[in-house]
Amino acid sequence: MSYECITTRIEGDKVAVITLNRPKALNALNDQLMDELGAALKGFDADPAIGCIVLTGSEKAFAAGADITVMAKFSFADAYKGDFITRNWETIRSIRKPVIAAVSGFALGGGCELAMMCDFIIAADNAKFGQPEIKLGIIPGAGGTQRLPRAVGKAKAMDLALTGRMMDAAEAERAGLVSRVVPLDKLQDEALGAALQICAFSQIATMAAKEAVNRAFEGTLADGIMFERRLFHALFATTDQKEGMDAFVNKRAAHFTHQ
Ligand code: HXC
Repeated sequence: MSYECITTRIEGDKVAVITLNRPKALNALNDQLMDELGAALKGFDADPAIGCIVLTGSEKAFAAGADITVMAKFSFADAYKGDFITRNWETIRSIRKPVIAAVSGFALGGGCELAMMCDFIIAADNAKFGQPEIKLGIIPGAGGTQRLPRAVGKAKAMDLALTGRMMDAAEAERAGLVSRVVPLDKLQDEALGAALQICAFSQIATMAAKEAVNRAFEGTLADGIMFERRLFHALFATTDQKEGMDAFVNKRAAHFTHQ
């Protein structure tokens, strides 16, 4: 499939790398980009050879937000009916394989929200995160007011949403928004390394882990614990569990077959 706003490639026969590719607009998000991203994610999710997906941008920008030149002309009716960039936002949430965001440069507005839709964020030391919509007379519209406080707490989320300031990679790591920070020239290797590590495990177990952790952000603690318990028990029906535990007991490397 050929795309205009993203590029895709496969690494090590099992990691799909999707790169946002609107360099002249710092990867600003528009409907075409989001449609292409949705199609690529769905395709890789359905491909049994793929175990993990990495979403990345350029060195200067992961994504500098929704495309302001498009939104500038919107009436309320346009915004409401068109559902700009969010009309297939839930596609990202529906992806069952792990998705890692490898972020360098700006991740602002919809770009920060897109990174937060991924399962975890690995940041380069030049990354800058923010929800600067307030400067445009609007507020975040793709989950920022909900996911950011869950990631960094109310104080910092309010600070970012109300002042529009940017947070650098070190602050984002301290706040819990990103899982690791690495030098810019190591970002792609670090993300690929994590993705390959994930691919080497049982695909059933990695999908179950993702599903269970995501439950922590929905419903009650008791429901989440019960959901985890049932998935945990179900994994004992897999060949991969037998293999993983047998390998440990017999002091050998495990070879998972994703069954
Ligand atoms: C359209 C954008 C853009 C955006 C940058 N560009 N961000 N175009 N939409 N969000 C364009 C610039 O207009 C410019 O085009 C080119 O990219 C390079 O940007 P510069 O501003 O020249 O670069 P720099 O001086 O380095 O500043 C980088 C920046 C700044 C700090 C990231 O571009 C910026 O503040 N961008 C806007 C960030 C923002 O407000 N994001 C939130 C958007 S609202 P030309 O043609 O001049 O070279 C949003 C809502 C999401 O995301 C919810 C939707 C449902």
